[in-house]
Amino acid sequence: MSAVPFAFLVHPRARIAEDLARVWRPLGRLPEGVVERAVRRLPLPPVSMARVHLADEGPEPVGHVVLVPFGARHLLAQPHEGRSRVERAIDHAVRLGAGVVGLGALTATVTAGGVTLRDRGDVGVTNGNAYTAAVVEDQLLALLGESDRRRVAVVGATGSVGTTLVRLLARSRSVDELLLVARGAAKLDHLAAETSRRVPTAVSTDLHDVRGSDVVVLLTASADALLRAEHLAPGALVLDATQPRNTSPTLLDERPDVTVLDGGVVAVPDLRLRGGNIGLPQGRAYACFAETALLGLDGHRGHFSLGVPTLDQVDHVRHLAARFARHGFAAAPATSFGRPATVRETRPVAGVR
Ligand SMILES: NC(=O)c1ccc[n+]([C@@H]2O[C@H](COP(=O)([O-])OP(=O)(O)OC[C@H]3O[C@@H](n4cnc5c(N)ncnc54)[C@H](OP(=O)(O)O)[C@@H]3O)[C@@H](O)[C@H]2O)c1
Repeated sequence: MSAVPFAFLVHPRARIAEDLARVWRPLGRLPEGVVERAVRRLPLPPVSMARVHLADEGPEPVGHVVLVPFGARHLLAQPHEGRSRVERAIDHAVRLGAGVVGLGALTATVTAGGVTLRDRGDVGVTNGNAYTAAVVEDQLLALLGESDRRRVAVVGATGSVGTTLVRLLARSRSVDELLLVARGAAKLDHLAAETSRRVPTAVSTDLHDVRGSDVVVLLTASADALLRAEHLAPGALVLDATQPRNTSPTLLDERPDVTVLDGGVVAVPDLRLRGGNIGLPQGRAYACFAETALLGLDGHRGHFSLGVPTLDQVDHVRHLAARFARHGFAAAPATSFGRPATVRETRPVAGVR
């Protein structure tokens, strides 16, 4: 199959003016409150933010980045308006020639992981979460290494990425204990009933309970820095794959004993964004972006990951990553808030729980 162009949707995260300055620099000089109100109230059209080029794939862009002009908090607080802005961004992507569209960050949450878009016949949609779960699993297993401290908490466990990751960890039996955390107890119980046959699994709706875990994986759809110093065990490792991030760099000042690593970031050295950036250095991509690119390169037609991806979809996208490995498509070397990081072995969490 020959490649099809793709488009990847992004939106401003917690600090709207700062993110919009990536499209038009003067916006970064305006007060946040002014930009926030304008974006929330005005019926702004989607914006072509960048063209995506891959070495060896010719002079034409292989894809586009399209900005949905609505902030992370707006998407969570006004999902109806959020969905309509996502639909308009997809219309825009189709006009740009996209055959497959990936839902970045909370554009997936607001469309129930793309389920509300399944009737669209004009373009294939993916939430990118099959590859995201795969990459986060790879990063987590690398972190755990040979450690005998393998108690893992997944925060946002019942979401699209979270559920897929939990199922992958249960399939591989690669952790000793799972703690599944979210706000809704019913979904947690349902997932735990499925996984506890393979891995001892506990559930909690209280973030303080992650203090009994060696590693905390953040996969929560929230615009706030939820994870705070008091939540973490001594020497805990945190893998934060959220966008907007649920950790703040100040956590490291308060708790120099913990390590916070960036999750869901993929090295694709051949990848170049022209005309704008999405907050990662050239050659790096979010895993959901990378899944969209892989489907485009593969000439995929129709929808892919919608709602919670299946493990077959995870296996398929891993296979695509191996097929296009000449471009990269592997978990990026460890970083912490964008800076190169060394990973210590997990330390004992004696005295807690
Ligand atoms: N790095 C990457 O490439 C990449 C790729 C895809 C997604 N992501 C990010 O991963 C995160 C999850 O995405 P998703 O599509 O899986 O989202 P999702 O399907 O909406 O799932 C969100 C999960 O978080 C839980 N949650 C929401 N607010 C919470 C809170 N305040 N406290 C505790 N749990 C909370 C939800 O359950 P309850 O509602 O029951 O609490 C649910 O389990 C997002 O931040 C997204 O941007 C990153």
